[in-house]
Amino acid sequence: MTDRPTTTTDAGIPAPSDEFSLSVGPNGPLLLQDHYLIQKMAHFNRERVPERVVHAKGGGAYGILQITEDVSQFTKAKLFQKGKETELFVRFSTVAGELGSADTVRDPRGFALKFYTEDGNYDIVGNNTPIFFIRDPQKFSDFIHSQKRRADNHLRDHNMQWDFWTLSPESAHQVTFLFTDRGTPRTWRNMHGYGSHTFLWYNAAGEKYWVKYHFKTEQGIENFTDAEAKAMVSEDPDFHIRDLYNAIKRGDHPSWKVNVQIMPFEEAADYRFNPFDLTKVWPHSDYPEITIGRIILTRNPENYFAEVEQAAFEPSNMVPGVGPSPDKMLQARLFSYPDTHRYRIGPNYNQLPVNQPKVPVHSYNFDGPMRYKNPTDPVYAPNSYGGPVADPSLYEGESYHISGEIIRSAYTKHREDDDFVQPRALWENVLSETDREHLVSNIVTHASAPEVTGEMKKRIVEYWTNVHKDLGQAVAKGLGVS
Ligand code: NDP
Ligand code: HEM
Repeated sequence: MTDRPTTTTDAGIPAPSDEFSLSVGPNGPLLLQDHYLIQKMAHFNRERVPERVVHAKGGGAYGILQITEDVSQFTKAKLFQKGKETELFVRFSTVAGELGSADTVRDPRGFALKFYTEDGNYDIVGNNTPIFFIRDPQKFSDFIHSQKRRADNHLRDHNMQWDFWTLSPESAHQVTFLFTDRGTPRTWRNMHGYGSHTFLWYNAAGEKYWVKYHFKTEQGIENFTDAEAKAMVSEDPDFHIRDLYNAIKRGDHPSWKVNVQIMPFEEAADYRFNPFDLTKVWPHSDYPEITIGRIILTRNPENYFAEVEQAAFEPSNMVPGVGPSPDKMLQARLFSYPDTHRYRIGPNYNQLPVNQPKVPVHSYNFDGPMRYKNPTDPVYAPNSYGGPVADPSLYEGESYHISGEIIRSAYTKHREDDDFVQPRALWENVLSETDREHLVSNIVTHASAPEVTGEMKKRIVEYWTNVHKDLGQAVAKGLGVS
């Protein structure tokens, strides 16, 4: 006898053997009555849940949000009150690659945060870029299709990617960002995160503000060059997961400053840019970043599948003091994420430990597959038998007036709205000479793939010329387009 536990079936019955199936004689055929063998094979066949339709490859960690400044004049959200500490889970990811794809390929990186607050879970499901490729969710699935694989040969296709981008000029800002070296961050620890959308904050008096979140790395920005990123694809395709895991394991806890930009509610209507357009930033000269706290990652998950693969972030998880803005992309995401979780993990995904709020749940939703905690009677509201009662006063301040025609249309233009003005500012005012050289060569390398047609190359040159004529000229030279 050893002190090791006895293997059991999933029903806890001692297993008959770890090695041998039940057969008729040592050389004979197997018996259907070997229910243990059948359980092992049947369970194995069901080990996978579908991978995320986007952001399939990623890694995660637990940590803490610490608020150091008083922002109670802007929001009553409990997690943002000075001195407050809130546990969190973060998941970093690439977007287009599958679950087994390489970490260092050029792509935006997901930067998804789940805060376990005393008012339930608050999720900020952002990226390492402050903007996005499109501004209307009608184009989201088409955009993703163009970045993933063709229908005929299952290959990714740069011609298809440039086709979508050049037909969607609103993508220029994000594509510029993507083709700088920030499109290939050295590690997840060395990149910023952004909530990207504009959100609503409201305080205890019901006063409203618009807010953008910025998470600024305290490790410093570090990127791979295109060549370094590609070399790492073969050297260690799991480089980013490994880097984060090992850093936390050795006690080197990565951290980010939590900054916000705040716009008084009334200023949105006349702001020079549409402040809800996800392809635009709010320039710092108009709305400076204010540091309100810090996040620090302190603990690795113990089980990748249970805690990272089954983590379910949802932009619709918002707590009192925070609300959505009219950003059309955000509005669509409020539906999309809980819907995909119900399909991918199952309708009771919120009962899994990584998703479970740290406060009691008093909901009238019940039953469904894999449910193990259920409400007791009464099972309906309103009731006269002591069941939970909603408190609408918690959301006072959230409401505001909207009216208009029911219409399918682009956003109303604000004074300086233009698809190219902000990427041009990035090129002209922010990028160093080396950054610009790398931007050009990264674009040229990507657009030189054999499947990119001559006609497409002309469109690519035109696209970049719209951002800046010098950039257009440099790309034309690199692609041999006259
Ligand atoms: P600022 O000069 O005040 O800000 C420039 C911003 O660009 C900083 O946040 C800086 O972040 C970031 N940045 C620096 N180097 C790069 C790079 N290689 N790639 C991408 N971002 C970089 O100017 P504005 O606020 O007026 O913005 C000018 C342009 O900067 C925008 O059009 C946008 O393209 C870009 N930008 C703006 C942001 C914003 O929220 N206003 C955020 C990020 C980019 P840091 O040095 O900390 O990394
Ligand atoms: C993941 C939809 C835009 C960031 C996902 C998933 C879906 C989705 C279905 C898979 C979720 C899962 O299976 O867990 C959409 C739609 C969008 C949109 C419909 C627009 C209409 C954005 C934008 C950002 C973003 C603008 C960032 C600002 C993320 C992140 C993940 C993700 C970080 C991974 C979350 C995780 O780590 O589990 N998105 N998305 N998405 N999306 Fe989006």
